[in-house]
Amino acid sequence: MRSFLFIPADSEKKLAKAAATGADAIILDLEDSVALPNKQAARANARDYLKSASASGPRVCVRMNALDTPLWKDDLAAVVPHRPHAILIPKTISGDCVKKVADALTDLEAEAGLRTDTIKLFCVATETAASLFNLGTYAGASPRLFALTWGAEDLATALGARSNKDETGAYTEPYRLARTLTLAGAVAAGVIPLDGVYKDFRDEAGFEVEARAAMRDGFTAKMAIHPAQVPIINRIFTPSEEDIAHARAVVEAFARAGEDVGVVALDGVMLDIPHLKQAQALIARAETSRSV
Ligand code: COA
Ligand code: MG
Repeated sequence: MRSFLFIPADSEKKLAKAAATGADAIILDLEDSVALPNKQAARANARDYLKSASASGPRVCVRMNALDTPLWKDDLAAVVPHRPHAILIPKTISGDCVKKVADALTDLEAEAGLRTDTIKLFCVATETAASLFNLGTYAGASPRLFALTWGAEDLATALGARSNKDETGAYTEPYRLARTLTLAGAVAAGVIPLDGVYKDFRDEAGFEVEARAAMRDGFTAKMAIHPAQVPIINRIFTPSEEDIAHARAVVEAFARAGEDVGVVALDGVMLDIPHLKQAQALIARAETSRSV
């Protein structure tokens, strides 16, 4: 999975557009894009969407309200019987938050006659100051966990910042740290490192630069807030023919050199074992992204 598109669940108009966007997954939002008076309507829309969603469409995920609100249990109760692919937990502080939601899901799955662990979990794991100290705690938290992502907006509010970007438009240090820790935390947990959103949805060139930087650093997927961002994500996070050809050349260079050789030269560049592993991982990812 490469692209995850957010849709405010109180917007029937946007929900109607979801399936045609080409997103690998959609996230029906019950949290920050839905005002308090609309929470009930958003839950009802999310439930109806899940009931009628086609199996050939995007995977349908739901973002619940945060664990420190009185809303999250009713969010889960409304959608779990209709089998969302996953629940996105906002504002997690550590792997313990995942365990808490996993336990609630286990009870609701039993009530709905679903097998335990049917529904997966992922987290926006950098939205509070305390969360930055705990990105290493997600490994082993739950077999349901399949991705970790990060957010710079709530974090800026939590830290008392005036802005999370500098005069050139680049994220400042606290947000670069949050991004890096999320990447490392996700890889350490063996789950998808999912890059965060880009708010300026009319700036497709800026979005492409950010998506490319994420792909270069190791993220394998990115969230979108607007349908125009989806094809850019799908293109950037699908290995190109050129990348695949280069990876195959690396694997072949090692194969030609023989099993007892740990270093080879290709086109004037030294390659050793990490480069071989990188090439093998890219070939494996190219195969799975084709089968999405
Ligand atoms: N999902 C599905 N459809 C969407 C969409 C989304 N996230 N964002 C926009 N659209 C639709 C619009 O309804 C519009 O439809 P129309 O042509 O029938 O009028 C079309 O795509 C073009 O939208 P546009 O006019 O360019 O944007 P907008 O001003 O309507 O909406 C936002 C801009 C930012 C409010 C909107 O993109 C949005 O709600 N994004 C998601 C926000 C969110 O979920 N945030 C929480 C996570 S950070
Ligand atoms: Mg938020």
